[in-house]
Amino acid sequence: MERSLVLIKPDAIERGLVGTIISRLEEVGLKLVAMKMLHMDKELARRHYAIHQDKPFFNSLVNYITSAPIIAIIFEGEKAVEVIRKTMGATDPAKAEAGTIRGDFGLDIEHNTIHGSDSTETATEEIKLFFGEDEIFSY
Ligand code: RTP
Ligand code: MG
Repeated sequence: MERSLVLIKPDAIERGLVGTIISRLEEVGLKLVAMKMLHMDKELARRHYAIHQDKPFFNSLVNYITSAPIIAIIFEGEKAVEVIRKTMGATDPAKAEAGTIRGDFGLDIEHNTIHGSDSTETATEEIKLFFGEDEIFSY
């Protein structure tokens, strides 16, 4: 079964949206198989967002994601990567459709509430950054 990594970003935690976001993802049939709250350090953030290291927003993105605690979750399901991306909506909340997590709750392109892996390959790499195999459950 396919797995994907979700991060609930600081803006969502600060506004008490954790339960709502997890519900939306459970409601589309995804199964929660691992979860932890953590305060990412800069090294982890730079590795997680390494693909963006040459972009102008990279430093700001790293500073934001390390500014406060986040929640990391692994969801499992049929086409989990695609289903999560669809449920999240477009990167920029202004462009995300109503009914998507970012469309309904995102504040701006940086404070956009949630991260989801963008392919099965990146999901595998990202999951390894946050979880050991012994922290992922089958049930
Ligand atoms: P994410 O990785 O967080 O799930 O977001 P995404 O795939 O939808 O977007 P991506 O292109 O991977 O960008 C990663 C994060 O960088 C911030 N960003 N800022 N200021 C900007 O133009 C800009 N563009 C992207 C966003 O917070 C985005 O989630
Ligand atoms: Mg991305």
